[in-house]
Amino acid sequence: MKRIAIFASGNGSNAENIIKYFQERGKSVEVALVICNRREAGVYERANRLGIPIIHIPKSEINNNAERVLEVLREYKIDFIVLAGFMLMVPDYLLQAYPNRIINIHPSLLPKFGGKGMHGHNVHKAVVEAGEKESGITIHYVNELCDGGEIIFQAKTEIFPEDTPDDVETKIHSLEKEHFPRVIEEVVERIFGE
Ligand code: GRF
Repeated sequence: MKRIAIFASGNGSNAENIIKYFQERGKSVEVALVICNRREAGVYERANRLGIPIIHIPKSEINNNAERVLEVLREYKIDFIVLAGFMLMVPDYLLQAYPNRIINIHPSLLPKFGGKGMHGHNVHKAVVEAGEKESGITIHYVNELCDGGEIIFQAKTEIFPEDTPDDVETKIHSLEKEHFPRVIEEVVERIFGE
């Protein structure tokens, strides 16, 4: 069994979907821990309901207390990290401790609509304002650049002229639900063997 930690900052719908997927599969991967930097985030209720340990580590500690963060990851024997709506940059010490073992999902077709400030609703608003005919999701390795790591997987959806940012968001969420857990499973199996 390979043990994943999910890092989240907000609502946590992806975290919930990933947790449930691996709870149902019960095969080679399990979500062993959720780490969240925002105390009021919806992901707490979800992790608690699903029986997954969730630990609050504030931004200041994530950025400046490598000892604490690495100690928590060691304690839970974490092999691999998934960012799901995690709003902070991953600090260097974590990239070094988990080389090519941290992946993120971004709600656009990178390199379009990525980088600083491009998160959540902002992305879908920018996509609609630019008159894009399609958008999608990008699952990528995390490196020191914002949304800049090697792309692992993309999936597209059509955007119609009458679509609002909320409509685009709904389409993107359904792509995330459909693909993210399976892609995580494939990457983990590729890295560690089945
Ligand atoms: C998702 O759209 C994800 O692509 C982005 O942030 C959003 C998180 O939503 N990185 P949730 O917290 O998983 O509900």
